[in-house]
Amino acid sequence: MIEVADLKRIYRLGQVEVAALRGVSLSIDKGEFVGIMGPSGSGKSTLLHQLGLLDTPTSGTISINGTDVSRLDNGERTLFRLMHLGYVFQDYALVSELNVMENVAIPAIMQGRPLDDCYDDAARVLEKVGLGKRLHHLVYELSGGEQQRVSIARALVNTPSILFADEPCANLDTENSRTVLELFRSVNRELGQTIVMVSHEPWHMEYFDRIIFIRDGLLDQERMGRVGRNGRPGNPA
Ligand SMILES: Nc1ncnc2c1ncn2[C@@H]1O[C@H](COP(=O)(O)OP(=O)(O)O)[C@@H](O)[C@H]1O
Ligand SMILES: [Mg+2]
Repeated sequence: MIEVADLKRIYRLGQVEVAALRGVSLSIDKGEFVGIMGPSGSGKSTLLHQLGLLDTPTSGTISINGTDVSRLDNGERTLFRLMHLGYVFQDYALVSELNVMENVAIPAIMQGRPLDDCYDDAARVLEKVGLGKRLHHLVYELSGGEQQRVSIARALVNTPSILFADEPCANLDTENSRTVLELFRSVNRELGQTIVMVSHEPWHMEYFDRIIFIRDGLLDQERMGRVGRNGRPGNPA
């Protein structure tokens, strides 16, 4: 469902060029829970931002569900994100003036659906992440782990075809990190939700179906070979 060919992203800062991605090709199937791992500065967030249409590559192609998204104009990209993609960030990015249910309903409201339906869907998905009793709380009344579950509910409210998460556990302790990872695994298994998650915590590896290792802006073939072809254990290259 995601096909990437020879993806490059070069940041230009005045006279200086930083090659954050130097030619990455990969594919991700529907229903996979994929980890993107590698050292700090290796290009993990840059890769996720290209896949999630939050940034535009310098060259290369990305196809999602058969659409060549590299060819979309800005308006079409915004609509594609709203209709097909969900995002979870490390800082939760919730709106502090709104209650939990309103925060989760935002992407549904932006699709232009009737308000009552949006709140019903928000309440249903909050129930699923274990926050059915927190609908009318303000964000600051919740713990960090609960806030991240609110942001996961928001990412899921429009039933996206792909959920992207960039180090969603970076600000959480081990217990809350486990809760978040188990929630991802359960929506992956129960709903068949495709998830692409960046992490640099080795202990997160056990949760992923497959790991894409990157290093210096390229796939780390050596490391992927060690765990199997394409990072899939038990499928040696
Ligand atoms: N907006 C930007 N402008 C310039 N350089 C950037 C920008 N974002 C990232 N970089 C650089 O690109 C490289 C990869 O960064 P990033 O994708 O954030 O790595 P990671 O998420 O693996 O830590 C790093 O050298 C980083 O400094
Ligand atoms: Mg990063």
